[in-house]
Amino acid sequence: MSPRLVRAADDATGRRDVPLRITVDGVPLTGIEGQTIAGVLMASGRTSWRESPSGAPRGVFCGIGACFDCLVAVNGVPDVRACRRRARDGDEVATRSRAGRDAR
Ligand code: FES
Repeated sequence: MSPRLVRAADDATGRRDVPLRITVDGVPLTGIEGQTIAGVLMASGRTSWRESPSGAPRGVFCGIGACFDCLVAVNGVPDVRACRRRARDGDEVATRSRAGRDAR
């Protein structure tokens, strides 16, 4: 899946972007209100943020909450599907979903 964000100025729907800021592993990222955490990550250029037990990269696979490949921890809550959780201003995201696992 390749990330793509239509700029508000180019969007025929006339949407207005309300910016938000989250941190991912302590690194600040900006997004827009309504984006999922996966959307913010992908818009920043990241297409994977964890690894399977075999070491294969994992990020968004299904994008609809069915596969659990996109798990992250949000504000200390583990195993949150990044493709389903809307980013909120001030969210602290950790790509390590559980201690000692999912490191990337
Ligand atoms: S990408 Fe499949 S659950 Fe998130």
